[in-house]
Amino acid sequence: MASPKLSVIILGAGLGRRMRSDLPKVVISTCERPMIQHVVEAASSLSPERIVVVTGHRREMVEEAVQAGAAEGLYPIKPLSFAIQKDQLGTGDAVKAALPNLEGFSGDVLILYGDVPLLRKETLKGLLTKHHSNGSDLTIVTAITDQQNSYGRIVRDSRSKSILKVVETKDCTPEEFAIKEVNVGIYLCESKFLKTAVLGLKNQNAQKEYYLTDIVEAANGSALKLDALIISDISEVQGVNDRIELGIVNETIRNRRVAQFVLDGVEISDPRTTYIDPGVTIASGVKIGPNVQLIGETSIAAGVLIEGNTYIKSCNIENQAVIKFSCHLEDSKIGAGASVGPFARIRPGSILERDVKIGNFVETKKAHFKEGAKASHLSYLGDCTVGKEANVGAGTITCNYDGYKKSKTTIGDGAFIGSNTSLVAPVEIGAGATVGAGSVITKNVEPDALAVTRAPQVSKPGWSKKKRESKA
Ligand code: UD1
Ligand code: CA
Repeated sequence: MASPKLSVIILGAGLGRRMRSDLPKVVISTCERPMIQHVVEAASSLSPERIVVVTGHRREMVEEAVQAGAAEGLYPIKPLSFAIQKDQLGTGDAVKAALPNLEGFSGDVLILYGDVPLLRKETLKGLLTKHHSNGSDLTIVTAITDQQNSYGRIVRDSRSKSILKVVETKDCTPEEFAIKEVNVGIYLCESKFLKTAVLGLKNQNAQKEYYLTDIVEAANGSALKLDALIISDISEVQGVNDRIELGIVNETIRNRRVAQFVLDGVEISDPRTTYIDPGVTIASGVKIGPNVQLIGETSIAAGVLIEGNTYIKSCNIENQAVIKFSCHLEDSKIGAGASVGPFARIRPGSILERDVKIGNFVETKKAHFKEGAKASHLSYLGDCTVGKEANVGAGTITCNYDGYKKSKTTIGDGAFIGSNTSLVAPVEIGAGATVGAGSVITKNVEPDALAVTRAPQVSKPGWSKKKRESKA
């Protein structure tokens, strides 16, 4: 038998007072997205006929956030509509506000809360399957937890174990408060029942609110078939009511992403200290040490090793490159087989071609190193091109800034720059040229020439000995 039609109601009208933010709670970001987008995305995976988002408090912002997700292609816009809940009188009242948008629809209605962003589509599919295979009128999702929490408690009949009602913690007796089975806030029922049940809700409770949870007792009262899908992982249905819960959700999202990379074959030695943004791609077999942050649109190709303690933002790291311990890289390209660090800083606009070597305490900025070029120690190389196989000695500085403007340094293929050299830009060092250690180069150097600006060395035989004796 074909499944009945499906519509979804998502509640997002609440103020979210406990978040202590001016923003409506459901637009607060979890994992780079307003949390309601995650919920709409999960709902859309079921291809429902309609998705009604209930908005109220600062509703333009919530509607904009939902529409932005559609514009980004996260979910289709077609099933979406908005319903306004004028006053925030509770979750039951919010569903009542959505009913006009379901005019003419008959079938299943799934109700989700906009502040439960980690929900997986597999769970929703499981809920639909259970609901239909059992022929239930109302199926709710519950979880068992030992932790202190404010979820509604599931009260079951002591003998038959069938569900009687959901009680909010503020209305609980001490015995009910001790119940470990809780309401996670996901409901699936038939549209006609929902309408009747919601219109019949009363607000006689501690919060003087119309609780959606009371439809459970209503279903019982009408002798309807009631069931629960008990999920095993409560972290999936963590609600976001305050900043601490937001932190828990963000951590779960990050952990899930890292876990997915591990499953895909990335060797992450300490997942707990690895942070990976959603825009990052990593080839299978890449090795990543502890304490690594991969941020923005970063891509990491096969065979790469990132030793650890490193921050990489918006970089392309090509095959077999090695990023040694403790490096900071931004908006740059690291070519195949290149080696960077330990303790290197690769600033925006750097291009390191194949087999380039950048060693410890080297800073590059808008530096284009051609194949096989090296700067192994203690240098600043900015606004420059370094030719193929050129060797830049320790302590080399490109003096690219005269206090007014930036100028360029060009080092030709195969050139050798001796240690402790200042290259005062604009300046060109020809291919194959040598610059003597300790030079301050202000004029261009011809290809294959030697340039040295150091003062000639003077040697005075016996000078030190004489001095010692005079002081004795
Ligand atoms: C609700 C449930 C509780 C459950 C928990 C799971 C009720 C009465 N209680 O409690 O049993 O354990 O979720 O996370 O439903 N909203 C509106 N209009 C309103 C009030 C709320 O749209 O008038 C929206 C909020 O924006 C939010 C959602 O409904 O997205 C849930 O509201 P919230 O106040 O967070 O309910 P909880 O106290 O968490
Ligand atoms: Ca909540």
